[in-house]
Amino acid sequence: MSTIATILQDEISTATLQKGLYAIAACTLIGAAAYAGYKAAEPEAKHLPSHRHPESNEQIEKVLELLRLDDEDKLRIIMQSLEREMELGLSPATHPTADVKMFATYVRSTADGSETGQVLALDLGGTNFRVLLVDLLPQSKVELTSKIFVIPQSIMLGEGSYLFRHLADCLMEFMNKENLNKPGVRYPLGFTFSFPCKQEGLASARLSTWTKGFTCSGVVNEDVVKMLQAAIDEKNINVQCVALVNDTVGTLMACAYKDPNTEIGLILGTGTNACYMEKLDRVGTWDGDYNDPKQVIINMEWGAFGNNHRLNHIRTKYDEEVDLSSVNPGKQIFEKMISGMYMGEIVRLIMLDLIHQNLLFIGKCNGSEDFKTPLFTRGGFYTKYVSSVEMDEGIGFSNTRRVLEDIGIRNPSYDDCAIVQHICKIVSKRAARLAGAGLAVLINRINKPNVTVGVDGSLYRYHPRFKRNMEKCMQNLVSKNIKFLLQLSNDGSGIGAALTVAAAEALSNQEKSKRSYPLSDDGSGKGAGLIAVVASRYLQQLSQSTSTLHNHNNEKVPTQFQKHLSTLQSPM
Ligand code: GLC
Repeated sequence: MSTIATILQDEISTATLQKGLYAIAACTLIGAAAYAGYKAAEPEAKHLPSHRHPESNEQIEKVLELLRLDDEDKLRIIMQSLEREMELGLSPATHPTADVKMFATYVRSTADGSETGQVLALDLGGTNFRVLLVDLLPQSKVELTSKIFVIPQSIMLGEGSYLFRHLADCLMEFMNKENLNKPGVRYPLGFTFSFPCKQEGLASARLSTWTKGFTCSGVVNEDVVKMLQAAIDEKNINVQCVALVNDTVGTLMACAYKDPNTEIGLILGTGTNACYMEKLDRVGTWDGDYNDPKQVIINMEWGAFGNNHRLNHIRTKYDEEVDLSSVNPGKQIFEKMISGMYMGEIVRLIMLDLIHQNLLFIGKCNGSEDFKTPLFTRGGFYTKYVSSVEMDEGIGFSNTRRVLEDIGIRNPSYDDCAIVQHICKIVSKRAARLAGAGLAVLINRINKPNVTVGVDGSLYRYHPRFKRNMEKCMQNLVSKNIKFLLQLSNDGSGIGAALTVAAAEALSNQEKSKRSYPLSDDGSGKGAGLIAVVASRYLQQLSQSTSTLHNHNNEKVPTQFQKHLSTLQSPM
């Protein structure tokens, strides 16, 4: 970054002169530009301004060429490579060194939508952290009360114990506000913890490595449920963490709550990851029982695909720079080409490269104060800007102008806006096609006539054409005999965590940690909530249990789950 900025300084003096030259060229060569600039261009190229010098358009296209993934054969090679990595993760011999870890979650089936109850959930997966109260109502209805808390950068990079103390403080604040403080009641809690964990049971999971900008010390290889519980107990909060889920699992659960064809959970947000229901006989690392259902949800941690250089053939110098300046260089290579934490930065680096080549913001970056603007600051171009820029249609570019003003470009020209939009489209399309290729691998592997994918995450939710771009590339990559559906899963993290909680409570009563329980619901937050409820069913079944689910008046509701007891799996 700084290299580009330094070079830019030297070149600024020539920028105004060049602007004049371009203006003359634009007047005299307008016809040739329109013709030569578009002749062989890809669909996006039509958004490049037609009156520019054709050579500038060609130069821009050359810079962007490496980011194009329009060639389907390239995607098929990536698919084969991902499937090989998945096998390495699933095999006990290669699992320890595999990049795509394919963690078995101990979740073996999805909920049937009849679960009811009230469960607390925590959802930690990015810079924001949520505390939720999940109300599972009859007929698959879910109500959420939640509060978002910020995780300050100092905590993300600090000591692990401070992180968990902060979570416990936020939980306490939320419970006081919601009057969840009945004496003698121990509230069950589901924890959606969206980082790679080797799960040793529903309420036991060791962090394998941090991702998404977290580096808290003293947590890797530790049981994060224990660490959270210690912080909760230290503050004398009457809460028991009984289950942990990844956000992908919560999302799958939440979606399956409403659509029984759901087999895959996908997150496209700050990070990216997928989970899916796998047959037990394909999971070499499985150390649980082989009773029915002979399946288990696998948390792939696909963000790490490419750590072993398998994606080098499609990586660009911008991807390398994003990686090198991250807190985890060499890690999460696939994630860094796709997810919201990095997409804006890739766009920013491309813009700087074009500025350096006098192809963008010509004459607009004069003066030393420019180097203090977001455009010249790492992380200064947010991924939400990419969505906003791509929402512009036609020639007005009202969003794009606003975004460019925000990053320090005053009065951007039509050319500037068109080029920036063009860059955003190419970068986000590449991300969508990579994620689509990954999904196609899973859908083909599952090989059922109808497969629903529960999807959540801010990138997917707010980008105007991410879904369309994914679907378009998947049409050709997914076997013709399979129908797939990408289904937005509302707030799965919370519900999934709530369900997980109930299951975990049952497990601890039985002193058995390697169990699977029927789950399902609505996203990563709700997911843990649902799992919690399922666990509570077990508590009922075990008669000595002291279920702590509550109705809307915060009264214990021990009989609520009785009707489901017959449907439960027997403990393993
Ligand atoms: C990162 C985490 C993963 C999570 C994903 C989406 O890739 O490692 O656990 O599911 O982000 O939040």
